[in-house]
Amino acid sequence: MDREEILNKCREVLNRGKEEIEKVVNEVDFENWRIKFLGRKGEINRLFSLLSSLKDDLKPTIGKEINEIKNTLISIFEEKKIKIQREKTEGKFNLSFPGKTPFYGNIHPLTKIMREMSEIFERMGFGVFTGPEIETDYYNFEALNTPEDHPAKDIWDTFYLDYKNKILLRTHTSPVQIRVMEKIKPPFRIVALGKCFRRDAFDASHSPVFYQMEGLMVDKNINFSHLKGVLNYFLKEMFGEKIKVKFSPSYFPFTEPSAEVSISCVICGGKGCSTCGNSGFIEILGCGMVHPQVFRNVGYNPEEISGFAFGMGVERIAMLKYKIDDIRIFYQNDLRFLHQF
Ligand code: PHE
Repeated sequence: MDREEILNKCREVLNRGKEEIEKVVNEVDFENWRIKFLGRKGEINRLFSLLSSLKDDLKPTIGKEINEIKNTLISIFEEKKIKIQREKTEGKFNLSFPGKTPFYGNIHPLTKIMREMSEIFERMGFGVFTGPEIETDYYNFEALNTPEDHPAKDIWDTFYLDYKNKILLRTHTSPVQIRVMEKIKPPFRIVALGKCFRRDAFDASHSPVFYQMEGLMVDKNINFSHLKGVLNYFLKEMFGEKIKVKFSPSYFPFTEPSAEVSISCVICGGKGCSTCGNSGFIEILGCGMVHPQVFRNVGYNPEEISGFAFGMGVERIAMLKYKIDDIRIFYQNDLRFLHQF
């Protein structure tokens, strides 16, 4: 072959390469094109092999020519590659579309209520404490003036972890009162928050695991009016100025006198409905003046100081505040419910 023939062949390969790349519509065509022109046994390498039939002095210029064609075909190839990729994603991605909103978790309604409760008490100078969920009989009952054979022990259906050694799951947050008083001296005011456990059925209004908030204020000359003042403020902050608060006599071994507190029904406003059993009031917490024996048990002198205590169920507060009629929904992790808070 002479120079002219090879150069013609070169031009012809280049034109064919250009022509055929236009017909490429998918990745298979594309790969075939690459093999045909740039592959090991492809058109370009075939052109190079023609060089051997040329005189030595012509080889460099013709070789250069073939190299240029090769580079042109490589850049055609790269351009087409980008184009094909773009076509593949076109229509699937529209960059002007708003992105998918990332999933945000939110605070559990019980956590929210507990924070709100703590904040209200913090505004009145109360500190927030916690204590162990696994307790001894001493802290859960005895130190709270509820000895072994005390008939009132039946009020709390207790889960025992180790009956012989009197290890149990606390039935209320009141043992935190004892733990705090063993450590600090009056005056003080604290609330304690945490899980409690009772052998209760799991139904619309009971759960074997639930939260309580305990309150305890001890100082010289603390009386029942202080208790009323603090609870009144708390309940009005929680449920609004309009609610009525009622104290009725009650009994707890660790308080004397004891009271239960009710608020006017949040559903009917006090007129009477099924939620309040037509009474217009809903019982919401237990409270009283700390029993002198409880003070003696922690080494305080009941002649010198006095105090009040209260305890309330967090779920109950949350149910009344958010108008929820089944306690179980708090623990079911149904996102349709949880997302509303
Ligand atoms: N611990 C009591 C209960 O669960 C509530 C309470 C606390 C009552 C403090 C009086 C004082 O049922």
